Amino acid sequence: MTTLDSSFVTNSSWKPDLFKGKVVFVTGGAGTICRVQVEAMVLLGADAAIIGRNVEKTEKAAKEIEALRPGAKVLGLGNVDVRDVHSLVKASKETVDKLGRIDYVIAGAAGNFLSDFNHLSANAFKSVISIDLLGSYNTVKATFEELRKNKGAILFVSATLHYYGVPFQLHVGAAKAGVDALSNALAVELGPLGIRSNCIAPGMIDGTEGFARLTPPGAEPLEKKVPLQRLGSTKDIAEATVYLFSPAADYVTGTIQVVDGGCWHIGGLMGSLYPSAVLTQGLDTPKL
Ligand SMILES: NC(=O)c1ccc[n+]([C@@H]2O[C@H](COP(=O)([O-])OP(=O)(O)OC[C@H]3O[C@@H](n4cnc5c(N)ncnc54)[C@H](OP(=O)(O)O)[C@@H]3O)[C@@H](O)[C@H]2O)c1
Repeated sequence: MTTLDSSFVTNSSWKPDLFKGKVVFVTGGAGTICRVQVEAMVLLGADAAIIGRNVEKTEKAAKEIEALRPGAKVLGLGNVDVRDVHSLVKASKETVDKLGRIDYVIAGAAGNFLSDFNHLSANAFKSVISIDLLGSYNTVKATFEELRKNKGAILFVSATLHYYGVPFQLHVGAAKAGVDALSNALAVELGPLGIRSNCIAPGMIDGTEGFARLTPPGAEPLEKKVPLQRLGSTKDIAEATVYLFSPAADYVTGTIQVVDGGCWHIGGLMGSLYPSAVLTQGLDTPKL
């Protein structure tokens, strides 16, 4: 089921057909957050290709998003692993064959689980770095010719975890710090070619598996600690995405757009879990 519907066009700040004739290529596009980014872009006129490993999930999401706007074309390209640049090159070629071009790229695919350092194996650490960081690099690599031809724009989906030390998330924080660095350097290197590169950093987004894992049932509600007094929504991320790809952001590159209700300014939200939870985990035999 889609999150957005045609009211996103009629009631929003954006004009219909804002992205008419444009194509967005999205890794993780069948996932919770990135799927709604795609819905917004498609509602506003874009065609899309969404990329994931799970064929059935990816194709189903593509069909549902395509139904949002008459005439929209949304490809669901499953069996693509962002850790493999050749797999992404194939997806990029298929997108150009079927949709004609790629103007915008969202590198959103990511792996996540909670683990303290002591129980995080070297292989598990490598896996998250490979999906989040290497996968983001591979995504731009595989679409670069199209981005160059169309003077396109890149949006990496980052996080705020690395702005301070967040226990149980060091693997993701390390990967996303790399993603921010990659985006900043690409903004400088590719700016002269007319390509913009930005990051979006979601805070605690309601309805996502990642957030659910961080807040077990019975845990103290976190929204009251957020300056704007609510959790974020996938629509909040979609709105910021539309802005960053729109002509309104034509002079915006090398930025990290934080969409977190002001949360990161008050530091980590570990509450009573710190330091007791960390101490308990740290005493076992290290997992290699
Ligand atoms: N959830 C939050 O509150 C939050 C906060 C900050 C940042 N973020 C970031 O926002 C983005 C989306 O998060 P989400 O919570 O919406 O995640 P999600 O629902 O788990 O979606 C992630 C997507 O990535 C795809 N994926 C994972 N590994 C892949 C691989 N190796 N190759 C290709 N595709 C792969 C998955 O599809 P398949 O299973 O089909 O491969 C899935 O559709 C991520 O970059 C995440 O780090 C999330």
